[in-house]
Amino acid sequence: MAFKDNRDFIAALEKTGDVVRIKNEVDWNLEAGGIVRRANELMAPAPFFEKIKDYPAGYRIFGAPLATHRRMAIAMGLEPDISVRDLQLEYERRIQRPIKPMIVTKAPCKENILLGDDVDLYRFPAPMIHDGDGGRYLCTWNLDVCQDPDIEWTNWGLYRRMILNQRYLTGQCDSYSDQGRIFHEKYVPQHKNLPVAVVIGADPICIMVAGSSFRIGESEVDYAGALSQAPVELVKCETSSLLVPAHAEIVIEAEIVHDVRVDEGPFGEFTGYRTPRMLEVLFDVKAITYRNDPILTMSCMGMPVDDAGLFRGIDSAVQVKRFLKQFAISFTDVSVPAEASQHLAIIGIKKNYNYSVSRLFNAICLYGRVPTTIVVDEDVDVFNMNEVIHALVTKCHPVNGILVREGERVIPLTPYLTSKEKLASTGPKLLFDCTWPLDWPKETRVPPRMSFAEAYPEEIKQKILKNWKTYGYK
Ligand SMILES: Cc1cc2nc3c(=O)[nH]c(=O)nc-3n(C[C@H](O)[C@H](O)[C@H](O)COP(=O)(O)O)c2cc1C
Repeated sequence: MAFKDNRDFIAALEKTGDVVRIKNEVDWNLEAGGIVRRANELMAPAPFFEKIKDYPAGYRIFGAPLATHRRMAIAMGLEPDISVRDLQLEYERRIQRPIKPMIVTKAPCKENILLGDDVDLYRFPAPMIHDGDGGRYLCTWNLDVCQDPDIEWTNWGLYRRMILNQRYLTGQCDSYSDQGRIFHEKYVPQHKNLPVAVVIGADPICIMVAGSSFRIGESEVDYAGALSQAPVELVKCETSSLLVPAHAEIVIEAEIVHDVRVDEGPFGEFTGYRTPRMLEVLFDVKAITYRNDPILTMSCMGMPVDDAGLFRGIDSAVQVKRFLKQFAISFTDVSVPAEASQHLAIIGIKKNYNYSVSRLFNAICLYGRVPTTIVVDEDVDVFNMNEVIHALVTKCHPVNGILVREGERVIPLTPYLTSKEKLASTGPKLLFDCTWPLDWPKETRVPPRMSFAEAYPEEIKQKILKNWKTYGYK
């Protein structure tokens, strides 16, 4: 089941109590951001702001679209209470069958078209999200479309964009992202501008896919079709041949200028901290198309959990599995907990004398995202943080069990990196081996776990389970 747009998605969230319609007038200057942040921290329903200060009726903001597993499940047409493990398995199952998009000529995103001097980015209620941000961020829940001219591949990516003035945006386009690689390797050397479409408020699955780490050459729009189990409808831009989701709320058609750099940020990031001002690229906006009564979407990243840690947790776990399979490394389970904002993978393994944790570490290092890995025996539930933390502090030997590799590919926003490491996007990776040594005899040396499941005979457990409510428990 697919939602063509956020309007249908919001209606579905309303039925399950996963959105709050806010009718009070809310200020775009920090108030909306503060509400989204608090809603994230409480894992409360998504705020939908219906009246924004200084803006006409109908101009609305939808915050934190996928900041809970419930909302992600609903976006995928699943039961809201599905377990995180099952949500991840379904995601993994669906991406095995990519679905090609459908090209249309009429589209809701063309209801209004602004060209040339009519372009005005302030027409939309871009929020000042955190105190201390460098400006108003129009795009924090968007997908950028651009093309690699050599392999005729279209990239989708979710990258933040800040308003500079009516007609110019700035934002990240760093070499570690696919858009940055295309721009810096294929356009800058030829002194050419890169055509892009910045799409705001496409359906939640399209944005989720743009923010996920599919590989170069893989078609993200086909994966969006796979995850929503229906083809995505695409329509051509007004000023370029790029194709964009037809039901998006706002499409900004622009060129990234090859030879200009401007100040961007500071900005509150998914790591939970503010990142400093940086020199970034300039987007020269050529056209804006948008729906009547447009709904701006926004994410308010910061201390976990928010959209970034949440759906990227599921995506990163699936990508880690793909790397392990590619290198024929066996595992029993993988999780990337939302609370760790993409910085930690937990991998369950069944160890034997042929198993090499060091080989597993090599494969993880190739996935440039999660810098820290915890490896546990198969009896530890990788989705249960009580069990994982218990294994970490009782099974990982501080000398023999900790592996470190330096000079690996990393996300430069990770706060503990040195300035030099951030600049080079390379740094250390860490692995905690929380598995029992194989040469410890099971009967005499490995201590049995004292849990309800493991420390009682079957008939006692059955009796307790049967009588649980009669003891007075719910
Ligand atoms: C809400 C949100 C905002 C993001 N903002 C940025 C950003 O500004 N710059 C960036 O490089 N990645 C950002 N990311 C991560 C990228 O979307 C992610 O790495 C994605 O894989 C990029 O696509 P690519 O692999 O095609 O470059 C963001 C992710 C989320 C969920």
